[in-house]
Amino acid sequence: MAAPTPPSFDLEKIRNASDGSVSGMAKTAFTEVVANNPYFAAGGGLMVLGTALALARTGVVRSSSFLYRQMLVDLEIPSKDKSYLWFLEWMSQYKNRSSRHLSVETNFIQHDNGSISTKFSLVPGPGSHLLRYKGAFMLVKRERSGKMLDMTSGTPFETVTLTTLYRDRHLFSQLLVEAKSLALKAQQGKTVLYTSFGPEWRPFGQPRRKRMLGSVILDDGIAERIVTDVKDFLRSGDWYHNRGIPYRRGYLLYGPPGSGKTSFIQALAGELDYNICILNLSENNLTDDRLNHLMNNIPTRSILLLEDIDAAFNKRRQQTEDQGYTSGVTFSGLLNALDGVASAEECLTFMTTNHPERLDPALLRPGRIDYKQLISNASESQIERMFLRFYENEHELCKQFLTELRNQVDINSVSTAQLQGLFVYNKRDPMNAIKTISTLKGPSKNIV
Ligand SMILES: Nc1ncnc2c1ncn2[C@@H]1O[C@H](COP(=O)(O)OP(=O)(O)OP(=O)(O)O)[C@@H](O)[C@H]1O
Ligand SMILES: [Mg+2]
Repeated sequence: MAAPTPPSFDLEKIRNASDGSVSGMAKTAFTEVVANNPYFAAGGGLMVLGTALALARTGVVRSSSFLYRQMLVDLEIPSKDKSYLWFLEWMSQYKNRSSRHLSVETNFIQHDNGSISTKFSLVPGPGSHLLRYKGAFMLVKRERSGKMLDMTSGTPFETVTLTTLYRDRHLFSQLLVEAKSLALKAQQGKTVLYTSFGPEWRPFGQPRRKRMLGSVILDDGIAERIVTDVKDFLRSGDWYHNRGIPYRRGYLLYGPPGSGKTSFIQALAGELDYNICILNLSENNLTDDRLNHLMNNIPTRSILLLEDIDAAFNKRRQQTEDQGYTSGVTFSGLLNALDGVASAEECLTFMTTNHPERLDPALLRPGRIDYKQLISNASESQIERMFLRFYENEHELCKQFLTELRNQVDINSVSTAQLQGLFVYNKRDPMNAIKTISTLKGPSKNIV
């Protein structure tokens, strides 16, 4: 095959260009080399075409992003936001959607009797999903950041972006309200337990069924008095505000182990329709700063429960002495945090201890603890009510049980938890409960 002949330029023509001036020569050279030469002419054409196409492409991209900005709206929900989980749960139950990537979220509950129940929710996984909500199409994009970690939970940072037409933007708020009420419906009639997780409060496990107040049997009148006091406090917001008194009230329930302190507070929360924030002061990595932050950021309608308040100080003292360093919360840290809790919302603080004698008087002064109540071992009246709660209408056997109890054990040393243990063991057999009363000779001691 013949090789293509290289382009030839008429140099003579260029040299003799009209007036022999440099500009005339350049002009002729341009015409000769570029215009009359088929290779250069074709290259130039291509170049012009390429530039035009590139410009057109930029134009299309710019105008489409302009149109996108004008016609579409995005809503970004980061995983740190409360509505993030509400939205995913809502979407997992929403029918009008097409999702090809699902992720599983397993709710695993181990019940008190050891049985396990699990619930799988198939939530939309990372990627794009389309859904139709009230006639409008929405594109849902769930993206996971490969590099950023949410430091509090250790999970990858994620965002969900919803995109829809500008005219349908009002549907976003409707959708979020719907997702929220769906999430709250799941909590209705339940008590949510919060525990501290880093600097914030996180729900601990699934919301629990409310415990009925009547199921915690305290000595005559105690439960009624506390409930009346708490309800009166919750109604007195204006009274406190008008007098400039911080709107908070602290309760201390003290007494031997297993007398129903924690159970009563849980039942009270259920009765008031409140949630519970539990803080364990003996936790090692709980510092004064964190305590202060947590206590000033309690979720609304929650009771703050500080369990075993004596433990934190004993442990700290021992550690400081034994190992020469201090860890955890300091006593003044706790006092400051308690005094600082003065939000506009009411603040109910419950504290429990088995050793009231170990508490510093500074903690016991009004304003920090306003109501103290001994919850002691079972009284005869409590034993009777508990027996009849487990074995309905067995009045005769109840008398027999009390007589045997008086004969065989020190009646003041039996805790309600021990009684519950005996009755649960003999669920349908009160006679056997009476026969095995001697098992109640336990370590529980009365304290006053
Ligand atoms: N007065 C009570 N009425 C009904 N049940 C009770 C009562 N006291 C204890 N129980 C039962 O005993 C168990 C332990 O009770 P709870 O945890 O409330 O005791 P506590 O006083 O908080 O003990 P601790 O001081 O060791 O924390 C629970 O299962 C609870 O149902
Ligand atoms: Mg307790």
